[in-house]
Amino acid sequence: MKIDALSLFPAMFASIMNASMMWKAQDRGLLSFRAHDIRDYAADKHRQVDDAPYGGGGGMIIKPDVLVRAIEALRPATETPVILLSPQGKLLTHQVAAQLAQLPRLVLVCGHYEGVDERVRQLAITDEISIGDYVLTGGELAALVLIDSVVRLIPGVLGAQGATDRDSHADGLLEGAHYTRPPVYRGLTVPAILTSGHHAEVARWRRRQALLRTWQRRPELLKNAALTDDDREWLRQLQRPSAAPSLLT
Ligand code: ADE
Repeated sequence: MKIDALSLFPAMFASIMNASMMWKAQDRGLLSFRAHDIRDYAADKHRQVDDAPYGGGGGMIIKPDVLVRAIEALRPATETPVILLSPQGKLLTHQVAAQLAQLPRLVLVCGHYEGVDERVRQLAITDEISIGDYVLTGGELAALVLIDSVVRLIPGVLGAQGATDRDSHADGLLEGAHYTRPPVYRGLTVPAILTSGHHAEVARWRRRQALLRTWQRRPELLKNAALTDDDREWLRQLQRPSAAPSLLT
């Protein structure tokens, strides 16, 4: 996959993109990433990229001519999404990330300050994505969140050890509890089933832990999850008043 990010602060990408799995993805040839400076596309001698909003009000707006020129210089194919990161966008979910992970190329556009001129949306943006219902000072952190969530889903990036199909949200549920050595820590023991060697029983226990955690923390997710008869039976058991009472009010 090839990802180009357009930003007024391209240096913000370096520390994340040059570490851990994002670095490995590039090292293994699975990802080609570049952050481009929008200012390089300013036409005047002051390299002006933003201006005051028509109609008054605070903040500065990124100029349409500069940003559209920057996007067009990347020559995105008609089928390449040109994604503006913005709090007004469609919410980033696992499903959105999985869809983007199938594509050969993404162009990410990061606004800063008050926003971008509306004509950029009309002329050059195909999609708008938000990472949550809060406002960041710019789209760079949101772009990095999107990149991480997408790139880890590209086959080969995490390797077999890091299979993503049991991730929280991958199947509509939260992941259940995990344990590693030692078997007893400060009096707390690892559930015996995990050391039993019964793979089918372990799988069933994990599924039930995922259902329990989802039911406790995000019960609304259960409405859209694909549930088996065994899952439903377990949820019925949980719903009996004495089972796993929540400590939250
Ligand atoms: N830019 C500013 N806030 C944002 C958000 N919540 N998501 C994506 N981009 C943003």
